[in-house]
Amino acid sequence: MISFSVAMEPEKGIGIRGSLPWHLKDELKLFKANTLFKNIVMGQTTYDNLPRKLTDRYITVVSIDPEYKADDVEVENDLIEFLKKHENDETEYIICGGASIYRQAYPYCKKAYVSFVKDNYETDTRFDCFELNDWDIVKEVDYPDFVYRELVRKE
Ligand SMILES: NC(=O)c1ccc[n+]([C@@H]2O[C@H](COP(=O)([O-])OP(=O)(O)OC[C@H]3O[C@@H](n4cnc5c(N)ncnc54)[C@H](OP(=O)(O)O)[C@@H]3O)[C@@H](O)[C@H]2O)c1
Repeated sequence: MISFSVAMEPEKGIGIRGSLPWHLKDELKLFKANTLFKNIVMGQTTYDNLPRKLTDRYITVVSIDPEYKADDVEVENDLIEFLKKHENDETEYIICGGASIYRQAYPYCKKAYVSFVKDNYETDTRFDCFELNDWDIVKEVDYPDFVYRELVRKE
């Protein structure tokens, strides 16, 4: 099964200059809780710009560069092939961005972990294809700076 995890402001902005536009401690804690000891998948840009190493997760980095290598991660050169191979697995693969990876993976995702950031931020990267209407909300928790929702794709 393919799912995704994202934090997004009201205009669907998710990033600026290669980083997150915000620093939300509770959101980072949630991301950790949701991904710990799971398979996570992220684009090379997102991976290379992580402020610190993500431990205790099985990480796949997507890059079209056949020479790309990084310690302790699997590298996948063809995202679509990867998604087709795993979309019906019982094991969950959580797409963790960035924008180009969310966009391509969106049609394959059956579940989502989304933090809807309440304030508007300056962003240069958006998750434009995301539509809340595509999803049923199965869990909702209100935090001071964001609303966290777990979503399953409508039949
Ligand atoms: N708010 C959030 O929850 C969140 C989460 C993650 C990231 N972000 C933000 O998103 C931004 C980064 O997004 P981005 O779109 O620039 O980069 P990205 O999606 O992280 O990475 C793109 C990388 O993936 C490669 N790639 C794209 N499609 C591929 C495919 N089909 N097969 C193999 N490789 C493929 C690209 O290669 P080429 O360059 O050669 O095309 C590029 O190296 C940052 O600002 C980051 O902070 C936000």
